[in-house]
Amino acid sequence: MKQHILELLEQTLAILKSQGLIDNDFQPRLQVDRTKDKSHGDFATNVALMTAKAAKKPPRELAQLLIDTLPQSEHIAKVEIAGPGFINFFVDDNALANQIEAAYQSPNLAIAEEQPQTIVVDLSSPNLAKEMHVGHLRSSIIGDAVARTLEFQGHKVIRQNHVGDWGTQFGMLLAYMEEKRAANEEISMALSDLESFYRAAKQRFDESPEFANRARDLVVELQSGNEQCLALWREFNEISLAHCQSVYDKLNVKLTRADVRGESAYNDDLTQVVADLDAAGVLTEDQGAKCVFLDEFKNQQGDPLPVIVQKKGGGFLYSTTDLAAMRYRQNVLHADRVLYFVDQRQGLHFQQVFTVARKAGFVSNSTSLEHLGFGTMNGEDGKPFKTRSGDTVKLIDLLVEAEQRAMELVKQKNTELSQQELETIANAVGIGSVKYADLSKNRSSDYIFSFDQMLSFEGNTAPYLLYALTRVSNIARKANDQSINYQDAAIVLAEQKEIDLANKLAQFAETIKRVADRGTPHVLCGYLFELAGTFSSFYEACPVLSADTEAQRNSRLKLAKVTERTLKTGLDLLGIETLERM
Ligand code: ARG
Repeated sequence: MKQHILELLEQTLAILKSQGLIDNDFQPRLQVDRTKDKSHGDFATNVALMTAKAAKKPPRELAQLLIDTLPQSEHIAKVEIAGPGFINFFVDDNALANQIEAAYQSPNLAIAEEQPQTIVVDLSSPNLAKEMHVGHLRSSIIGDAVARTLEFQGHKVIRQNHVGDWGTQFGMLLAYMEEKRAANEEISMALSDLESFYRAAKQRFDESPEFANRARDLVVELQSGNEQCLALWREFNEISLAHCQSVYDKLNVKLTRADVRGESAYNDDLTQVVADLDAAGVLTEDQGAKCVFLDEFKNQQGDPLPVIVQKKGGGFLYSTTDLAAMRYRQNVLHADRVLYFVDQRQGLHFQQVFTVARKAGFVSNSTSLEHLGFGTMNGEDGKPFKTRSGDTVKLIDLLVEAEQRAMELVKQKNTELSQQELETIANAVGIGSVKYADLSKNRSSDYIFSFDQMLSFEGNTAPYLLYALTRVSNIARKANDQSINYQDAAIVLAEQKEIDLANKLAQFAETIKRVADRGTPHVLCGYLFELAGTFSSFYEACPVLSADTEAQRNSRLKLAKVTERTLKTGLDLLGIETLERM
């Protein structure tokens, strides 16, 4: 509808231009917004205020002229001037009813069609030397929700789990694996807890110079392709990736081994990357290190900041790998957009490597590179989330605790469920709550992790929405049980609460577009929360199964069905498992 009104306004301006009433070069940025107060109509625009000067007319006079010139539309019931020259549009209830009917008929709820693009989503990307910790939660689930939304729009999405599987810390880990093996210890056992394995290896490294030397040798051998080293390295990564996979499965995040393309995959290309930067004329040698100096980024003294791509000893860096990955994503994967779901604190890194890639001609202007950063998850004390003893919290432990807490909660509410049913519900509620609490916050802000808040049945939470969905589903199920046939019924919007619900449902399409364009799942969460609230006021005011007439009942059933599908689809896109009952 918004798009439709924008088109009407564009046509109107073109007519006024052709009549010489507005200068031909004048290109205002047209804006149409939903109104907050429905007595002002459904949509409003400030175009008359913006264009008044160019048209040399007072805004209200221009607004009237625009309204008089506006092409007729069957979707618009009425257009009015308001205040200093705003134009308000009242959508025709029939048009609104048709829109909901179209959503009812369509498998994708009639969201707007997009030109399909190839979109690479860089998500999760933990370092394999350690176990996934809470910091990896945000990248995994925000990236997954946006990837699902883009797929829903019809884009080709390629997930890339850019795991840290290369680098100096592997020397230490391999040396420790060797020691364990020499002592005839079972390596897979030792690696069942990666975190303590890492700590023990680090301790050996710090206390024994021989061990440290062996570790350094192993890095060199690994990098020069020594088969024995590689075999150990592969063994380590296999185990670590299996840990990750169990977290993804528990989290209901769509990532598999096929999506893993770690840092090591680019290793063979790094020498070439540096050579190509040199050939592009952007490389400088500074104290033995190879760098690209960028005027765009200055230090406090005002000197350009270097991006180092090769260290003095010849070693490559995180940036070098990212440059290689960018080329791969453009040239091999043919990405139109590349989205990076990585901690906000890496913002400068991404701005720098994006700039280098463009300067060197590695990435063309038609490929969009977007760092979609996120803030930190903090504990209730407002400081980064830690265990009581001050260690980082393993993601898996957090998830298990969420499931246990959800189990307590569900048991209190439901006494008649079987153990099996209880577990299914507790898992969905526990994991869903952790995910939803995170996804519903603005991506770029820090937030406070609180089990009590996220497991509450009140407010913008997973339990509230999951429960709201089961209530809507119940109505549709009862209609089914009574063999009510409403598929062919007409949607009639007579009562205000029916119109309100239809209006809310009609906003799904624009919500999806915003989430997809900006990578902001919280917009979808906010929308679903509002939809659930709008449905419950509708349901209070408008009985469905016991409506006065059959026609009214069937129309309301259709509204309920579209609500059910919208809530369910929305939660699916967020990666939240839904329930039949709870
Ligand atoms: N492994 C990195 C970390 O844990 C994140 C990698 C993000 N992706 C990328 N292409 N740099 O901080």
